[in-house]
Amino acid sequence: MISCTDLHKAYGTNGASGPAILSDVSLSLGHGEFTCILGPSGCGKTTLLNLIAGFVRPSSGALLFRGKPIREPGPERGVVFQEATLFPWLTVLKNVAFGLEQQGKPEKTCTEEALHHLELVGMADHARAYPHTLSGGMKQRVAIARVLALAPDVLLMDEPFSALDANTRERLQDELLRLWQRFGQTVVYVTHSVEEAAFLADRVIVMGPSPRNIRADKPIGLPRPRTRYSHDMEAVVRDLRRELNALPCCIGPTRIDA
Ligand SMILES: Nc1ncnc2c1ncn2[C@@H]1O[C@H](COP(=O)(O)OP(=O)(O)OP(=O)(O)O)[C@@H](O)[C@H]1O
Ligand SMILES: [Mg+2]
Repeated sequence: MISCTDLHKAYGTNGASGPAILSDVSLSLGHGEFTCILGPSGCGKTTLLNLIAGFVRPSSGALLFRGKPIREPGPERGVVFQEATLFPWLTVLKNVAFGLEQQGKPEKTCTEEALHHLELVGMADHARAYPHTLSGGMKQRVAIARVLALAPDVLLMDEPFSALDANTRERLQDELLRLWQRFGQTVVYVTHSVEEAAFLADRVIVMGPSPRNIRADKPIGLPRPRTRYSHDMEAVVRDLRRELNALPCCIGPTRIDA
């Protein structure tokens, strides 16, 4: 579904190439696979997601979606960010209908499809509410409904539940798995939580710094549905934690000169 070969990214200023943000990243993501990306802060996880989303272009290497180069964002690749980015001036329903309207669908169809997707994430009762009246978890549900309404083949999620309390996070993880099992999207999910990765993923990619690239690629063989607390789950969590602990931190201590 997605393949990266020798991907390299550097941000340049004034025509000069800056330091490498990603080096030699090669990765192939299969159809319907749920992949989590773990790694210390600053190791390039969001950059990799932004490249797949088409928000930024690689400096070199190949990045393909279904065999074709990714050059720009597209509706087949939906993105959910850490903070739900809803339009504050639109109701929940209109926020979800917006992308459908942009596709030129009739208003009635947009409303019906938006409502259906709000139902899927348990937010249909709030269709007429404005975003500022919702909690963080509710906003994130709406953001997920908005992305799902466009029926993407790929869901790119950048720490989508990290700002939520533990209970809400676990409920949304369960709902995400339910939706994924129903619709079979290819999911790329960035997280800092080893437990979350072990619970969600078919496969965990561990990224590291200096150079920023992939250090481990671990299949998670735990059967589904999974329980969060079991000996097998603990063993997976321990293994992933060991991988992470072996990595240096990306951000060194700040030197404060007197
Ligand atoms: N637009 C940009 N211009 C220059 N440097 C950038 C840009 N975006 C990211 N970087 C740098 O790229 C490196 C990787 O950043 P990135 O946001 O991908 O890390 P991350 O792994 O997602 O970190 P975190 O876990 O904190 O979200 C950082 O050193 C960051 O400063
Ligand atoms: Mg990030």
